[in-house]
Amino acid sequence: MGPYLRRFIGILSALAATYAAVIVPGATWTDTSGNVIQAHGAGILKVGSQYYWFGEDKSLNSALFKAVSCYQSSDLVTWSRQNDALTPIAGTMISTSNIVERPKVIFNTANSEYVMWFHSDTSNYGAAEVGVATAKSPCGPYNYKSSFQPLGAQSRDESLFQDSDGTAYLLYASDNNQNFKISKLDANYYNVVSVTSQLNGSTLEAPGVLKRNGVYYLFASHTSGWAPNPNKFFTASSLAGPWSTQADISPEAVNTYFSQNAFDMPLGSNAIYMGDRWRPDVLGSSTYIWYPLSWSTGVPQIVAADVWSFDLTAGTYTAATGTSYEAESGTISGSATILSDPSFSGGKAVGYLGHGGSVMLNNVQGIGANQWVSLYFANGDSTWRNTTVSVNGGASVLVDQPNTGGGHVLLSVPVKLNLKSGANSITFSANQANYAADLDKIIVYTAM
Ligand SMILES: *[C@@H]1O[C@H](CO)[C@@H](O)[C@H](O)[C@H]1NC(C)=O
Ligand SMILES: *[C@@H]1O[C@H](CO)[C@@H](O)[C@H](O)[C@H]1NC(C)=O
Repeated sequence: MGPYLRRFIGILSALAATYAAVIVPGATWTDTSGNVIQAHGAGILKVGSQYYWFGEDKSLNSALFKAVSCYQSSDLVTWSRQNDALTPIAGTMISTSNIVERPKVIFNTANSEYVMWFHSDTSNYGAAEVGVATAKSPCGPYNYKSSFQPLGAQSRDESLFQDSDGTAYLLYASDNNQNFKISKLDANYYNVVSVTSQLNGSTLEAPGVLKRNGVYYLFASHTSGWAPNPNKFFTASSLAGPWSTQADISPEAVNTYFSQNAFDMPLGSNAIYMGDRWRPDVLGSSTYIWYPLSWSTGVPQIVAADVWSFDLTAGTYTAATGTSYEAESGTISGSATILSDPSFSGGKAVGYLGHGGSVMLNNVQGIGANQWVSLYFANGDSTWRNTTVSVNGGASVLVDQPNTGGGHVLLSVPVKLNLKSGANSITFSANQANYAADLDKIIVYTAM
């Protein structure tokens, strides 16, 4: 084997190793068996050196209860599916005609017991209850105890927070989603004993709390159904408040990069924002949007890294680096047209892709198969669109482009492409009946 071939193989294996441990928000994440991870509305629990991810199995593309899944990982990236943690029981509030959402699990040391809380509801969300289940091992299966309204008031989106002294709290949207409440749990974590904090008229849901340097951070979205909105944070030096006024965790226009908060996990002096990009008409295809949360400006802000990794021991994260290629520099054909707007990089993008219109980006430097590429697009319509992507004239792959809510708001979506080493040409279009979103640029990721 000559030195060049050896070096080439070295690059490929380094790339493969890197990719094995990267987070790619919005990609389809698969487990160690190659199945799509079904764990929406996530809750993460660490037990020893292992992480457990609980979530909603939405593989039936229905909001109704199928299972609370349980995945295990030692690196928070490679997940193996375990037995389901909670499964339907006919004739109860967790039957297949009811709702079980946002499962969260904490460990009760005194009882050596894992306790799961979840949003428990009827199919029209009219019951507005919490459900509680317990188990002796992280994935259970859990024994369902009951569903009820905490302290006699409604509870819809919810989460749990376990403080450093072991006291646990329910975080929940109450009173028709108008008032957000934080209530203390009893010593067993089976019930709620008193309201610790109430944010009246705050219309919050999808909550999470983490504690950093003695400050409590509450993360939550507002209420807009499955559609995303700008998620917020609040701070307080006590869970009893007073809470600060709300502030954004990302620029308002991007609607939290088209996602909704599910869980917020400390990572050293940073954290990981774990959200859902809901796809209401095909719920099981909803993707996971995990980003670093950085306090580098003094307040938590999402770092919109397309491809990134973390070091769980050091508590640090690294965003991949790549090379940008502007769409307007490509070969434009058919109906495709250059559009100008200050929000586009270089002030320009290519629109009217589809109906025979296309753009071919030439001389795109590749380093090998299975390279992550991010497509930066603006989709001014109130629908999802999609674009076809063909490498060197090969078969097209279809990439979904979420509705970005109008105007020229940019969002990126990832696609794994088989580039060859050296120059490639990549063609973007849409099938004859559709237009794709406006393409601003692509970034070809090469290294961490
Ligand atoms: C919220 O409203 C309740 C009555 O609904 C009131 O008792 C409580 O003091 C209010 N809390 C705050 C922080 O304003
Ligand atoms: C692609 O997007 C168009 C809208 O532009 C939509 O009608 C079509 O169903 C989408 N195709 C797929 C496979 O999602």
